[in-house]
Amino acid sequence: MTEPNAPEKKPFLYVVVCACGIAGDVGKLITAAQERHWDVGVVATPQGLGFLDTEAIETRTGYPIRSAWRTPGELRPLPPADAIAVAPATFNTVNKWAAGISDTLALGILCEAYGMEIPTAVVPYLNAAQAAHPAYQQSLERLRGMGVLIGSYEPHKPKAGGGADRFRWEEALELLAPRLSARA
Ligand SMILES: Cc1cc2nc3c(=O)[nH]c(=O)nc-3n(C[C@H](O)[C@H](O)[C@H](O)COP(=O)(O)O)c2cc1C
Repeated sequence: MTEPNAPEKKPFLYVVVCACGIAGDVGKLITAAQERHWDVGVVATPQGLGFLDTEAIETRTGYPIRSAWRTPGELRPLPPADAIAVAPATFNTVNKWAAGISDTLALGILCEAYGMEIPTAVVPYLNAAQAAHPAYQQSLERLRGMGVLIGSYEPHKPKAGGGADRFRWEEALELLAPRLSARA
């Protein structure tokens, strides 16, 4: 039984960050999630890690950023995920995830999330030349079929400065909200 004065246990969100030009702004998503009473842990792809201010994120979340697999005896640095937001997601990670490739910790977590029935949302950030590749549409279809919620960002024109101003970080949270209330 829960103690009457025990602090409420917040749900835990993994924010998976890929190597996109806008990845350094992920603090916006972390803050938005914390304002909605989530605890947050960041998992970065190895390439994505280079785009992040590790110290600032670790201070903000209170958890180490995960990027590499832990060694066999090491404790798990993050609590288990109640939901996962992949934002921003690269062309590369979307395609590998859909294909079941698990060669980064981030992909390993995403590939397993389906079997573990963890609600997952992805907001890709890529250009129209990448999105034109036939594999990309097939990947989105496959992820949609797996129940992954897909963000609405329209790919930007290549070599034209990107679309950071149109990228809605909170969309991942909006997509996840109905799934989470259904589980509560
Ligand atoms: C400065 C820079 C910005 C990039 N921005 C993007 C991007 O916005 N979207 C994307 O799909 N790939 C982008 N890429 C390419 C990815 O970083 C590259 O495909 C990488 O292998 C992705 O790794 P990950 O999917 O493991 O994070 C960018 C690369 C660089 C160097």
